[in-house]
Amino acid sequence: MEITNVMEYEEIARQKLPKMVFDYYSSGAEDQWTLRENRNAFSRILFRPRILIDVSKIDVSTTVLGFKISMPIMIAPTAMQKMAHPEGEYATARAASAAGTIMTLSSWATSSVEEVASTGPGIRFFQLYVYKDRNVVAQLVRRAERAGFKAIALTVDTPRLGRREADIKNRFTLPPYLTLKNFEGLDLGKMDKTNDSGLASYVAGQVDRSLSWKDVKWLRTITKLPILVKGVLTAEDTRIAIECGAAGIIVSNHGARQLDYVPATIMALEEVVRAAQGRVPVFLDGGVRRGTDVFKALALGASGIFIGRPVLFSLAAEGEAGVRKVLQMLRDEFELTMALSGCRSLKEITRDHIVADWDAPRIAPRL
Ligand code: FNR
Repeated sequence: MEITNVMEYEEIARQKLPKMVFDYYSSGAEDQWTLRENRNAFSRILFRPRILIDVSKIDVSTTVLGFKISMPIMIAPTAMQKMAHPEGEYATARAASAAGTIMTLSSWATSSVEEVASTGPGIRFFQLYVYKDRNVVAQLVRRAERAGFKAIALTVDTPRLGRREADIKNRFTLPPYLTLKNFEGLDLGKMDKTNDSGLASYVAGQVDRSLSWKDVKWLRTITKLPILVKGVLTAEDTRIAIECGAAGIIVSNHGARQLDYVPATIMALEEVVRAAQGRVPVFLDGGVRRGTDVFKALALGASGIFIGRPVLFSLAAEGEAGVRKVLQMLRDEFELTMALSGCRSLKEITRDHIVADWDAPRIAPRL
């Protein structure tokens, strides 16, 4: 059957993957309210399209941290991609590069920064989890720099792992034929099978729960790479992140895998954009599955979006070709949304092109 939208890959992945792997990829935390809300919230934003504008030429390209990319659709870091497909992160890196966009490599990738770099040219960011052992962190950041990664996405919403009940039931662990490649040489590449989630135990053992704003400053002392703070949901934290020298903010709830009952990222976006006051770019991830979602995020002030699960599901279904197809479908849908809204470039997308259900009515009712 022909695939005509990004969501269709999820069912194919469900059929192809072992249950433990599919559940790890698809789950959210606890009641999974935020997981559903990440999608549902997009449907509370409607368009105010402008008509009779010459849309025969549309430019969807943009610049992120000074890097020119083909579209404002990028790849979020997702761990352990070789569980989805033997080519794992290599396939994702090649697909991103072919699409002319940015891939973010997870700290917990099953391919190392050097291996991903060896797939060829491409603009790549490195996602960082801060381990208790800061020598491990410093080494890893240095390796990412040397491998040509262009920015660090510092994940700040994971002092402990969220409670993902399917992983607990499945006794989730990294299959023994794989390792967290970035940590292999440091003897931290394996994950034990435990009597709950193996990943939750790994995080409890290795990841630094004491991480705080002073560490963002510390990170700036060990690298010249720009730092994106990933996992911001409030105006307050946006201001602090900027004061601490963040080069950008990623509004993210970790794909609803950490604290349940946080708002959908598309609901939190505008608050963050207002607090940032244009000082740094604001990005969003979480539930983006349609070109219309991308447009809505940009209309609310995002400079770009990242996708997580669609990459994993398409990778499972068709490897690199699947990831390419996901990127192409989102690009095509986004371009079509622009045309039908009367926007020829990203600059022309404004807040007035959408109306959200939290907006005040535009026309006062006649009494
Ligand atoms: C993630 N995410 C994530 N984030 C991060 O900073 N480091 C990581 O290693 C991972 N790993 C990971 C694995 C899986 C299976 C998922 C689904 C997610 C979160 C990810 O970067 C992103 O925030 C969300 O995936 C975005 O939401 P969608 O697009 O999946 O709805």
